[in-house]
Amino acid sequence: MKQINLTTKITVYSYDECTDVEKKLIDAAKEATSNAYAPYSKFNVGAALLLENGQIITGNNQENAAYPSGLCAERTAVFYANAQYPEQKVEALAIAAFYDGDFTSDLTSPCGSCRQVLLEVESRYESDVRILMYNRKNEVFVADSMRSLMPLSFGKQAFDQKNQ
Ligand code: THU
Repeated sequence: MKQINLTTKITVYSYDECTDVEKKLIDAAKEATSNAYAPYSKFNVGAALLLENGQIITGNNQENAAYPSGLCAERTAVFYANAQYPEQKVEALAIAAFYDGDFTSDLTSPCGSCRQVLLEVESRYESDVRILMYNRKNEVFVADSMRSLMPLSFGKQAFDQKNQ
């Protein structure tokens, strides 16, 4: 028997410690919460992607009376960016959420399906996506990549292996 311990590094910055570009990205994610369509959960999520050319693409959650038909903020942003700018690698993603009259006191981290989609983005562009998760205490939790948030993930490497 052997044991494998998996560790994930998260660096916690204060908003003020972030670079100007990171601040812009976080601000954009916060701003994007205001256009969320979340009449059911009332949990407004904003996502902001930084593309290689410096452009920022935002998205927000779009809910539906048929609940599973809705989509999270992160995937709304990613699919839009990939549809409009397929040549632009995605460098970073900031996430913020507004609930019950204020930004959340806890960070908002991407759900499992969004993680899977972001993992695909990393393999598609062969480049890590930094994940910045904001809370109203002005803390920014940073993961260096989606891979690091998804140990033992299923990805395109599964198709690269030879049958033994
Ligand atoms: N949601 C997101 O948009 N992103 C996340 O990272 C977590 C959850 C949305 C889905 C749903 O509209 C609402 O938040 C409550 O789950």
